Amino acid sequence: MLKVWTNAVLHKFIQSRLEGYRLIVVSNREPYHHRYTPDGRVECSRPAGGMASALEPVMRACGGLWIAHGSADADRAVVDSHDHVEIPEGNPQFTLRRVWLTKEQVQGYYLGLSNQGLWPLCHVAFTRPYFERRDWDQYREVNQIFANAVLEEAADQPTFVFIQDYHFGLLPRMLSEANANLIVAQFWHIPWPNREVFRSFPWKEELLDGLLGNDLLGFHLRHHCQNFLDTVDRGIEALVDPSVSEVFRKGKRTLVRPFPISIDFDAYTAISQSAEVENHMNCWRRRIPLNGKRLGIGIDRLDYTKGIPDRIRALDVFFEECPEYRERLMFAQIGVPSRSSLPAYREVEREVDQLVESVNCRWGTDHWRPITLFKRQFSRAEMIALHRLADFCVVTSLHDGMNLVAKEFVASRIDGDGALVLSRFTGAARELRDAILINPFSIEETASAYKQALEMPSEERIRRMHRLREEVETNNIYAWAGRFLTALTRLEFPDRMENVENLENLEAEE
Ligand code: F6P
Repeated sequence: MLKVWTNAVLHKFIQSRLEGYRLIVVSNREPYHHRYTPDGRVECSRPAGGMASALEPVMRACGGLWIAHGSADADRAVVDSHDHVEIPEGNPQFTLRRVWLTKEQVQGYYLGLSNQGLWPLCHVAFTRPYFERRDWDQYREVNQIFANAVLEEAADQPTFVFIQDYHFGLLPRMLSEANANLIVAQFWHIPWPNREVFRSFPWKEELLDGLLGNDLLGFHLRHHCQNFLDTVDRGIEALVDPSVSEVFRKGKRTLVRPFPISIDFDAYTAISQSAEVENHMNCWRRRIPLNGKRLGIGIDRLDYTKGIPDRIRALDVFFEECPEYRERLMFAQIGVPSRSSLPAYREVEREVDQLVESVNCRWGTDHWRPITLFKRQFSRAEMIALHRLADFCVVTSLHDGMNLVAKEFVASRIDGDGALVLSRFTGAARELRDAILINPFSIEETASAYKQALEMPSEERIRRMHRLREEVETNNIYAWAGRFLTALTRLEFPDRMENVENLENLEAEE
């Protein structure tokens, strides 16, 4: 059996198993956006967030078309008359088709229904969801806009449509009703709550019916699949077969399966070794004057689900209880601004600012500011450089479908060292068992995890990091895509299944 899926193996797999089919990926967030610089040039960069950066290497391996919302100020300037642009610039490997939305549509579909409704509803992180009828109407309208774009692109060609995330709960049904020849699959990148929680969603039947337009529906964890099946069983007329994790409705079968997402481990390893990262490490050394001090880090979008205030409170307790670390530990927090027009996001940012200020006032001295907060986006190489400098990385999500920062930290540590403090309430905690696992709601437990990370004997730290790296290397993003496509192939083309398990054949063909 093949141990490690690679870009090349996935490429071969797709060529042989999805032969004759075109791939269309749909997401709200685009993998690259184009922006005007202050001097009027157009710059192409990656937006923040895990989904687009995880999917991009898969798309490079598969080729095909990616349909996403064009949201940056220079996006329109670079597309052709079909709203297409080749990605990446200079070495095109796939096509991006941009879909344009009005301000009202973004407000209702993205900020409103998706991020004030579904996001808090599914994360259950003690921030209440809000549901507005007009947001739901915009959500439906935008799902239809994306459906029209997919149908136009697919025309009458055999096409596999791979939809990303909670922005598109209605799209699968729209597609399968309009064109029965499409194969439609979706990955839901956030948790699915239990049926009691989901009951508060006012348009639950329509949303569930939309999702049951998929041939295959993936979640990160088995637990989320079970919650979904249970919600369907109680919430809508459908035949649920939990023994094989399938649902039948309106003559269609939907297979529901867990596929824990990951990252491109090899790419991280390669970038980690680059001169660019070495240079960025020097930049970080200037920004954070370590002078022999230890370093803890956190890298997150400024989102209330990430538990950033909780980790700062835990630092306060840590400096109180471990005075020997005063003037000896620095903590660097990157908080990437996100969804900042929503009150709950502005509120968490204000809280983080205040807490950083108060910890720095309480413990800081003439020579030492314990916490440095950077509120902007950094490039991947800059983040890898910070990972490489850290003694430990902290992930304190109150609830997270997966959390790719934890995996990025591990993949960046080509030196095989460093400790990971990881919330038990992330999907990643199911795989990264050698992290120091914490309940982020317990400030004391988090504070003592910092101490454990700093004082763990080096042999143990290295042994743990070795196992963490093996885990991320094996269960990488190509394995995620490969397993997803294997499930789909088994469903749609059982005749193409011979040798599918024995991926060594694919490697040998290389
Ligand atoms: O985790 C869910 C998710 O939608 C990711 O897929 C994405 O990377 C992240 O949230 C960021 O969200 P947004 O696109 O709203 O900035």
